[in-house]
Amino acid sequence: MKQTIKVGVVGCGYWGPNLIRNLRQAAGCQLKVICDASEQRLQHMRKLHPDVASTTQFGDLLKDEELDAIVVATPVRFHFEMAKAALLAGKHVFVEKPLARTVAEAEELVSVAAQNGLILMVGHTFLFSPAVRRMKEIVDAGDIGEIQYISARRLNLGLFQKDINVAWDLAPHDISIILYLLDEQPQSVSCQGSSHVNHQIEDVTMMYLSFKKNRCAFVQNSWLDPKKIRQMTVVGSRRMIVYDDTEPLEKLKIYDARVEVPAHYDTFAEFTYSYHYGDAYVPYIKQDEPLKLECQHFLDCIRGEAKPITSGQSGLEVVRILEASSTSLRQQGQAISIASTAPDRPRNGFSARSNSDGHSRKARGEAAAGLHHPQGA
Ligand SMILES: NC(=O)c1ccc[n+]([C@@H]2O[C@H](COP(=O)([O-])OP(=O)(O)OC[C@H]3O[C@@H](n4cnc5c(N)ncnc54)[C@H](O)[C@@H]3O)[C@@H](O)[C@H]2O)c1
Repeated sequence: MKQTIKVGVVGCGYWGPNLIRNLRQAAGCQLKVICDASEQRLQHMRKLHPDVASTTQFGDLLKDEELDAIVVATPVRFHFEMAKAALLAGKHVFVEKPLARTVAEAEELVSVAAQNGLILMVGHTFLFSPAVRRMKEIVDAGDIGEIQYISARRLNLGLFQKDINVAWDLAPHDISIILYLLDEQPQSVSCQGSSHVNHQIEDVTMMYLSFKKNRCAFVQNSWLDPKKIRQMTVVGSRRMIVYDDTEPLEKLKIYDARVEVPAHYDTFAEFTYSYHYGDAYVPYIKQDEPLKLECQHFLDCIRGEAKPITSGQSGLEVVRILEASSTSLRQQGQAISIASTAPDRPRNGFSARSNSDGHSRKARGEAAAGLHHPQGA
């Protein structure tokens, strides 16, 4: 693969400019052209990037033989059509989340990319977050025991979308993190929600994902909350992790807390739960912008130096859950089983290059109590 990868970006609204900024700074990448249907948006972008070509016509990107890759950052209703056209034009494609509006569309994109030997990657940005990667390392090392359940809350005021409900907008992040941590698809999904601003589109939703071995996850999303909340609690049989993405530094806290049931008891009087409260521990995490790592990873994949962590297939898995959540919403929260047509999930193998080599800090208490030594609890 030649050294410099030439990229075009379509969609310069709220999120596109962040991708554009990172692609401009990425090594071995030339941001060749930006596209937006709105001339007004392009005028603004030209002021920021006067040396980059611009067009209102997406077809210009498809026709540009020099372009190696296209990044799609338009609203979801355009994802399928644009990504498919780009793949058929021989371009590697990065599509913002969610990959598409339906499972059928997402499956077709995965298949067109495979048939043409092209990279298809989806913007599950949080899988590039150093805090999420660290959380995965902690889980995989067995430090928290077996995951029992995960609860996620992603709430804020707006930004209301016109074509998708709040679950399709915000839950792809939570779902992609949950699948990454558990490394499996749920068996069923149920979802309840309600709409208060636009009566066609749910602005508050609560999803329940049921996994094998009695594991489960709750995902609460809202565009109608006064506070921006980005929290996830991962409850393990030995310890619990609280991940708060709004914290500037201490994004992860590991609590040495659990409940034990006595193995044997003959009378109710002998039965007592044993509550274990130990130290809390804040792992050191080297800060890096997830979007920067995501853009670099896309380029590495195009060069053949990596395989997409957030592949088209993982985008499809998330869309499968979102589609089931919409069916469940229409059926007042009925559990919808997830067809296990997906091939085995590739193990999410980050090269754990970055943030685990570091120092750690105790949030309270004496010792970090052997977080890496299960016997040390
Ligand atoms: N990864 C993340 O953390 C993250 C965060 C926010 C948004 N997103 C995703 O980014 C995508 C865009 O979201 P947004 O909030 O920026 O939307 P937006 O509405 O602010 O911007 C979309 C832009 O696309 C342009 N556009 C629409 N149709 C077009 C067409 N046919 N040709 C060219 N341009 C066209 C619009 O003019 C607009 O400027 C969505 O998929 C969203 O889910 C991802």
